[in-house]
Amino acid sequence: MQNAIVTGATGGIGQCIAAQLAAGKVNLLITGRRADVLARQAEDWQRVYGIRVDYLAQDLAQPDAPATLHAFAAERGFVPDVLVNNAGYGLWGPFEEVPIEAQLDMLQVNVMALTALTHLFIPQLLSQPRSYLLNVASLTAYQAIPNFATYAASKAYVVSFSRALYHEYRKRGLRVTCLSPGSTDTGFLDRAGQQHLRAMADRFGMTPEVVARIALSALRSGKAEVVPGGLNKVNYAAAALLPKVILEKAAAKIFKKPA
Ligand SMILES: NC(=O)c1ccc[n+]([C@@H]2O[C@H](COP(=O)([O-])OP(=O)(O)OC[C@H]3O[C@@H](n4cnc5c(N)ncnc54)[C@H](OP(=O)(O)O)[C@@H]3O)[C@@H](O)[C@H]2O)c1
Repeated sequence: MQNAIVTGATGGIGQCIAAQLAAGKVNLLITGRRADVLARQAEDWQRVYGIRVDYLAQDLAQPDAPATLHAFAAERGFVPDVLVNNAGYGLWGPFEEVPIEAQLDMLQVNVMALTALTHLFIPQLLSQPRSYLLNVASLTAYQAIPNFATYAASKAYVVSFSRALYHEYRKRGLRVTCLSPGSTDTGFLDRAGQQHLRAMADRFGMTPEVVARIALSALRSGKAEVVPGGLNKVNYAAAALLPKVILEKAAAKIFKKPA
């Protein structure tokens, strides 16, 4: 791994993935909306690790953002052998109560931008003898989740899309891995409007540092899919084995509107 692009590198899992790549002397192009955080990280990692860190502050809900990032990388001669599509977020609430504009923006980030970035950078990834694509999905991808319907569906897309690409590219030097974290201690719950799930997350959640380490290890070893953590693996197995209606009723209880 030499040159990595990481989206959503200003916090949480993406920040830990970028930091771990930086510590391994991988040059970075990092993105997120918060320019101040990107600038500070770029300066720190360049100074501490002696690597090159470029950054671009951008909102991936803007449809032209992936093309802008691709052009930015080209201008700087930054040719990635690693692409980490991590940026994403959830919006919790009864479907009809969450404004449709907000839901469509989320789908733009979680689905459209991830797909466009993959398509834009695939030629460069395939031009290298070995390259890596990491897409971040979620444990919510494996079943329908009432009150988190659009988010869970967006992550089901990421799993299916990534697994298909794994097979398309595995004999062409490009390793494709899909990471499906469960509850992880990041800014995710606050952005999703799920503060009421904080106590459960504190009890069962993982740290983003550990999730990032597991993700990068799976990426290096060429796994198609990785679910980090023992409890998450049990949930993943249950989603494959139990009748859908049982899983969906249980999810409806967990994700219901607080009284
Ligand atoms: N935490 C969990 O429990 C959990 C569980 C399963 C899956 N995931 C997935 O893990 C990934 C990372 O989330 P996280 O938990 O690390 O959450 P986080 O701490 O909120 O980080 C999200 C990252 O995505 C970026 N981002 C969000 N909206 C963006 C936009 N419109 N344009 C550009 N960048 C944007 C944020 O940057 P800015 O704020 O600077 O824009 C931030 O760097 C997401 O895909 C999420 O769906 C998280």
